[in-house]
Amino acid sequence: MTHLALLIALAPMALAQYDFSWAPKYDVTKPPATAPAQPLWTQHFKQVNPTASYADVTTCNSPNPLVWGATFDDGPSPSTPMVLDYLRLPNVSVKASFWVIGANVQFLPDVLARTFAEGHEIGLHTWSHSNLTSLTDDQVISELVYSARTVYEITKVYPKYYRPPYGAIDARVRALANSMGLTAVTWNKDSRDWSYVGKSTLSEMISNVTSSFRGWMATQDPNGLSLEHDLYPDTAAAIPPSMDILIRAGRVIQPVAQCIGDATPYDNPVLKTFFANGFFDNPSLIASGGAGVRTTGPAGETGSNGAASGSSGTGSGTSVSGSSDGSKAKSLSTGAIVGIAVGCGAAALVALTAVLGIRYQKKKKADAAKQAQTLGGESAFVTAL
Ligand SMILES: *[C@@H]1O[C@H](CO)[C@@H](O)[C@H](O)[C@H]1NC(C)=O
Ligand SMILES: *[C@@H]1O[C@H](CO)[C@@H](O)[C@H](O)[C@H]1NC(C)=O
Ligand SMILES: *[C@@H]1O[C@H](CO)[C@@H](O)[C@H](O)[C@H]1NC(C)=O
Ligand SMILES: [Zn+2]
Repeated sequence: MTHLALLIALAPMALAQYDFSWAPKYDVTKPPATAPAQPLWTQHFKQVNPTASYADVTTCNSPNPLVWGATFDDGPSPSTPMVLDYLRLPNVSVKASFWVIGANVQFLPDVLARTFAEGHEIGLHTWSHSNLTSLTDDQVISELVYSARTVYEITKVYPKYYRPPYGAIDARVRALANSMGLTAVTWNKDSRDWSYVGKSTLSEMISNVTSSFRGWMATQDPNGLSLEHDLYPDTAAAIPPSMDILIRAGRVIQPVAQCIGDATPYDNPVLKTFFANGFFDNPSLIASGGAGVRTTGPAGETGSNGAASGSSGTGSGTSVSGSSDGSKAKSLSTGAIVGIAVGCGAAALVALTAVLGIRYQKKKKADAAKQAQTLGGESAFVTAL
């Protein structure tokens, strides 16, 4: 409890430049609950775009067979900065995709800001890392809305891609996400790094994960979309040696959107309109204004939604002009703000690492049993910080 108390004491300092007052509160020593359901949101999205259909992205479909999509899930964590340090080494210098959990982001907002500022792709990985296929329609929508809200708070962008936890997806989940302008991204090269947590030493972890990558290189299959986790110290530590293998094999590592030829991974007009219209803070506007309204929202929205409303103008939900350049400029200024607050952030990170360390030891013990329940090829352990 002392660690928790320390974290709570430090959190306001670390989070001062971001507003998470809208976020569901939870005990950081327990998994977060599913995001609060909001039937009006479901009503809105179903009416906005009921027939949209997007195929899941399961591999890196580049015409260049050497291009490879590298993805890191379940962060941000205290191990993420080490991964970022590696990725920007002059002899490495690659961009990857990070699929972040909304509930985790609020504890390490500066880490997400840095990830984004350094040019990596940010994708939604839900609010609580729940199995979407087992949730109601309202819960599925809410899990995605809250994770989008979290990413927006820090990056001011609206992602077009999400990754369903455990890779668990079905036609219903796909249709609900598509109605929000979201496309699912899974993977076809699973490092199974999660399966060694608590069972292997660090060197075994690295040797097992790298042997998967070596095996994939030996087949010389074109492209590939690999899955690893920057959540735990050991799975994060396996990322540099596995990326080294790709690089030395001549593979060209890219974020997922880039490798499938999408230059605008954050150009999601459906989400942009949803937030700009104030439907997040005031779902009742959906009923009164009519769901599916895609022009200007009512004035007077507070906080960052108000800012979004101002910048979006009277768009009809079509493309967001200049979003690439705009997001770069915004990310730089976010980075500057984070830099100023770095002292407090570092203290909070130390506290958080201590909490995580305890959780990690507990997980090591409970791990084998939990992994037996894993079905989807992703970690079955819950990922709340
Ligand atoms: C997700 O939930 C569905 C429906 O309850 C279930 O069939 C599936 O096994 C679950 N997947 C995982 C990875 O827990
Ligand atoms: C992981 O590595 C250890 C030690 O090298 C080995 O004994 C074990 O069989 C490997 N696990 C898998 C699933 O390959
Ligand atoms: C890049 O340099 C780092 C630090 O010297 C080293 O650990 C890593 O293996 C190198 N990677 C490649 C692909 O050269
Ligand atoms: Zn995950």
